[in-house]
Amino acid sequence: MDALDVAADLSEVLFTSDQIAARLGEIAAEIDRDYAGTNPLLVGVLNGAVMVMADLSRALSIDCAMDWMAVSSYGMGTHSSGVVRILKDLSTDLVGRHVLVVEDIIDTGLTLTYLMQNLASRNPASLEIMTMFRKPDAMKIEVDVKYVGYDLPNQFVVGYGLDYSGRYRNLRDVGILAPHVYS
Ligand code: PRP
Repeated sequence: MDALDVAADLSEVLFTSDQIAARLGEIAAEIDRDYAGTNPLLVGVLNGAVMVMADLSRALSIDCAMDWMAVSSYGMGTHSSGVVRILKDLSTDLVGRHVLVVEDIIDTGLTLTYLMQNLASRNPASLEIMTMFRKPDAMKIEVDVKYVGYDLPNQFVVGYGLDYSGRYRNLRDVGILAPHVYS
């Protein structure tokens, strides 16, 4: 679906699907250059990264492998503790691999901080992050990100994998959720 299909639920469209595709093309060109001659492993973090993983991987000219992790925060409050439980681990051995973690969004930075420590301990040849979106004003821990699609305002943003209560993930565009939807 696109922004017109849910126009009443959005207060603003931030990025259209065409803009997102163009930005991903730019990032893919950078990754093609940086990883030329290697076969990187793209690691997607479920569920939100499905869209960006599918589009980024197909925008690349180099051959890459893909694997997936599913994580959830321990305790109450999803992003409160920064301690992450691995619900689904990788099937791939990371030793000697060039690993690029692919995320839809970095919010507080807690999930990726934990994940990067965990993945680094598996002795990859290199370990970097690509995220489609980042909320600089929400960050609690600085995360070293090599590739960023767009920075977002610290508001409720949905679409392109970003959900509100499981909804709007399949919105092709990205927009700010209107307050009447969640209040
Ligand atoms: C989102 C996103 C990251 C995490 C970032 O996942 O995909 O994994 O939150 O947040 P943080 O920087 O504050 O740790 P979420 O837990 O919403 O699950 P989802 O991908 O299934 O929507």
